[in-house]
Amino acid sequence: MTTLSAALGQAILDRAAGLARHSDMEDGLTCAYLTPAHRATQAQLAQWMEEAGMRVRIDAIGNVVGRYEADPAVAEPRVLLTGSHFDTVRNGGRYDGRLGILLPIAVAGALHASGRRLPYHLDVAAFAEEEGLRFKTSFLGSSVLAGRFDPALLERRDADGITLRQALADSGLPGGGDPEALRAAAIDPQSLLGYIEVHIEQGPVLLHQGLPLGVVTQIAGNSRFLVNVEGQAGHAGTTPMNLRRDAAAAAAEMVLLVERRCRQAPTLVGTVGQLHVPNGSGNVIPGACQFTMDIRAGEDRLRDAAVADILAGIEEIAQRRGVKIQLDRVTPVANTPCARRLMDQLAAALKKRGLPVHELPSGAGHDAMMMHRITDVAMLFVRCGNGGISHNPLETITAEDAQLACEVFADFLKDFSA
Ligand code: GLV
Ligand code: MN
Ligand code: MN
Ligand code: MN
Repeated sequence: MTTLSAALGQAILDRAAGLARHSDMEDGLTCAYLTPAHRATQAQLAQWMEEAGMRVRIDAIGNVVGRYEADPAVAEPRVLLTGSHFDTVRNGGRYDGRLGILLPIAVAGALHASGRRLPYHLDVAAFAEEEGLRFKTSFLGSSVLAGRFDPALLERRDADGITLRQALADSGLPGGGDPEALRAAAIDPQSLLGYIEVHIEQGPVLLHQGLPLGVVTQIAGNSRFLVNVEGQAGHAGTTPMNLRRDAAAAAAEMVLLVERRCRQAPTLVGTVGQLHVPNGSGNVIPGACQFTMDIRAGEDRLRDAAVADILAGIEEIAQRRGVKIQLDRVTPVANTPCARRLMDQLAAALKKRGLPVHELPSGAGHDAMMMHRITDVAMLFVRCGNGGISHNPLETITAEDAQLACEVFADFLKDFSA
């Protein structure tokens, strides 16, 4: 077993608190892609990686990648990749994503302090963007590292009309938004031994089981849409109810359809997280309404069937109410299985510490989904406190659980075999 300082868990919590001070908002944590808070977080992570003995690079999309170099006696070492994202949702939690960066930095720092090297390079990727907050498309960071970045996304605009291309050109990042530089930032899949992501569970399962850690079996895929409903604006006082084409009322019916349909299977979930009437007024019938839809399930076929029913239902509502629909579909992500060979090695590390092995699926999306396109992936979940709440400032973990996760992760690294 690897012996680590008992203070590592608390040190990770302290660092998460320190990072949370870099925020786009005053009274909470929002870290949207390429904002000043995001750049400050990026710089801090790079510094901590350097202090942990890593060679650090910041790539063309803004990922910070630190390498804890292999034992020099090993000829042509390959790479075990770990990491997660450092952007957040609006008013989010301080561990979502960041735990999966801070924890490997802490463990690499401990190896460095004791002069120990591994028989492979350990690369820690702090992915610049996963949540999709600014450009309404997720996995910008991991898609570049995986060589799966879609250059068409460079024309996507944020809420202020700034394109991703422009944001990158203004950022001072290497390449300045040049598609070729983004392509060249990909890691060579042949060099990889696998990808392992540590993440806060973001749900209540481990908490209810009384367990600090869990091994993820698969990550639920998702289908996401932006729906624009176009009706007819008009006077709220003079237009009889039967002569209206109210875009918000139509959208409300569609939202309830999503909820009703997604209640029909246990793992199926559907969320309308953004809903608004652009330029609305209290005395004007809504002429337009826009909303997002996020639909997920434990099985792709369940999700696909729900999506088909919901889209047909939206069409029916639109026709009946005389409104028009324009649908922007984000490329769906399939369910992602974790690799048994890596899960078993995580389980062995848990057993070594006398911990039970609990396997559970992930309902939340993770960078591992993107890395799965080029290598085997696995995930270690850490218990989420406060009833399992996440994407919320109340999200929390304990120092004891963070410590255990460090120990299990360190043993996993020590015993790792390709
Ligand atoms: C990201 O956190 C997601 O699961 O949507
Ligand atoms: Mn998240
Ligand atoms: Mn996350
Ligand atoms: Mn996420």
